[in-house]
Amino acid sequence: MRVIAIDGPAGSGKSTVARALAQKLGLDYLDTGAMYRAVTFAALRRGIDPDDGERVARVAEDCELEMTDDGTVRVDGADATIEIRGPEVTRAVSIVAANPGVREQMRRRQRAWAEQRGGGVIEGRDIGTVVFPDAELKVYLDARPEVRAARRSKEVSDLSYETVAADLARRDALDQGRAHDPLREAPDAFVVDTSELGVDEIVERVMERLA
Ligand code: DC
Repeated sequence: MRVIAIDGPAGSGKSTVARALAQKLGLDYLDTGAMYRAVTFAALRRGIDPDDGERVARVAEDCELEMTDDGTVRVDGADATIEIRGPEVTRAVSIVAANPGVREQMRRRQRAWAEQRGGGVIEGRDIGTVVFPDAELKVYLDARPEVRAARRSKEVSDLSYETVAADLARRDALDQGRAHDPLREAPDAFVVDTSELGVDEIVERVMERLA
């Protein structure tokens, strides 16, 4: 099984780089952040309080998640691609991602996904540290907070830079400070600061590392 793990905070360039790498290497791509968002969406839609750990963990176990290669995310058969990026889900996802029962279910699903395909390029927060500690290559992407906020605010054009920057800082603190599988660099990760780099340059550096 050939797994390339890409971890890092929001706005570090993970998705763009992971997609480009997957294409170059002929591997499938998995966005695990979208999975945590999809579970959050499923819980909200069922009227479950995101703080109700036990019920949300049950949703993570029994909801039907479909992640297609073109980026479409289906939750219990319904297309949720747009909604999982919306403000409601974005506000609640860190609480859901801090839930150990949810993480256990996501881990199980991510490993099954890779086994079915013989591997893939998988991006998230704990892919190299927890989900695939034996990955062929672990990449940790980072960038200065103001660069990451600027990238994110370009993607969500209806919110001000200040709002996006504050939300990013709040999520960083939650993702790094949580008790279960916090965001951190694997000791053997290839660390790249992407603040001043274009996508092609980052991909090139990672490809060199693989060679
Ligand atoms: O990458 P993203 O912003 O779409 O991720 C959404 C949330 O899910 C984010 O707050 C961190 C969390 N997450 C996680 O805890 N573990 C992962 N492997 C991927 C995402």
